[in-house]
Amino acid sequence: MATMESLIGLVNRIQMACTVLGDHGGEDMSLWEALPTVAAVGGQSSGKSSVLESIVGRDFLPRGSGLSCFSLNGIVTRRPLVLQLHKIERGTEYAEFLHAPRKKFTDFAIVRKEIEDETERLTGKSKTISNRPIHLSIYSPNVVNLTLIDLPGLTKVAVEGQPDSIVEDIEMMVRSYVDKPNCIILAISPANQDIATSDAIKLAREVDPSGDRTFGVVTKLDLMDAGTNCLDVLEGRSYKLQHPWVGIVNRSQADINKNVDMMAARRKEQEYFESSPDYGHLAHKMGSVYLAKLLSRHLESVIRQKIPSIVALINRNIDEINAELDRIGRPIGVDGGAQLYTILEMCRAFDHVFKEHLD
Ligand code: GDP
Ligand code: MG
Ligand code: NA
Repeated sequence: MATMESLIGLVNRIQMACTVLGDHGGEDMSLWEALPTVAAVGGQSSGKSSVLESIVGRDFLPRGSGLSCFSLNGIVTRRPLVLQLHKIERGTEYAEFLHAPRKKFTDFAIVRKEIEDETERLTGKSKTISNRPIHLSIYSPNVVNLTLIDLPGLTKVAVEGQPDSIVEDIEMMVRSYVDKPNCIILAISPANQDIATSDAIKLAREVDPSGDRTFGVVTKLDLMDAGTNCLDVLEGRSYKLQHPWVGIVNRSQADINKNVDMMAARRKEQEYFESSPDYGHLAHKMGSVYLAKLLSRHLESVIRQKIPSIVALINRNIDEINAELDRIGRPIGVDGGAQLYTILEMCRAFDHVFKEHLD
């Protein structure tokens, strides 16, 4: 049996294949829906993009600088970003967008710019949002295999230039992702706000009452009022979830302005926990690196349970594509047929490997 890590890599490729299938046939997104993803949910500036970045280990997500910047830039994440991480053994890390296939990005500042440009291509410079996701893949020796979704932040009021419906629009969009039973929810709440008012926890509780697929993440522990701490939450006394709460210290805006890099930020985060009188005893279960490991482990167990239904779905696709190819007469070289043929070959390869995993 191949390693679970390679299995998750495979699943990432299947999601890519399903996007192709979905774009091609328009109807069969069910395969995509069967696979687990991880979505970051929370209020604006709660640290969603920062948490995802530190799981990835790269700086590339458009990051707002809190509310002061929000009033200038509007909502930074205005389209869902579906981010697939693929671990490669060696070589230079690079990124690829589904909307620009065959173009390899190695400069992550340009990746970030491309996300912003691609957002604007649909929404214009307005502050409105779009449900259409941007698909980005990152290939790196320094990531674990994961599919992550960065969602627009939940908000309580519309700002100038936004329709009044924006509050409900965003909630509905976020809900459409986290409603799905296969969605693992990263419910992000900043420690410097009362957890009882957390939009992330409120929504997560609604769509996942048992808490099976919710990971509570508390950011900004470093910004809590002196003399207070977050132990009641982190130790599960305030809100019990199935999975342990994870505390995080992301880079502050000042760190970002000073170009503190990711590795330095991780070291600083680890030091923060290890030297903290409040959290020292929890240091080994806190921080971004630990969160990434926890998520990866959970994904593995979820995927293992799903293999039989994935195989069934793939077989259905193979049947459908075969029927379609029979209908059009397998014209290799003719664009549509050749594309279907490629998809069919991909499905067969996936099917084969999954069957091996079942044995
Ligand atoms: P998002 O809007 O939820 O995606 O939040 P971002 O990740 O863009 O972060 C918003 C702002 O909060 C940025 O200026 C970050 O630097 C800052 N920030 C996020 N997490 C932390 C944290 O743990 N500690 C500190 N001090 N600042 C943070
Ligand atoms: Mg963001
Ligand atoms: Na932001």
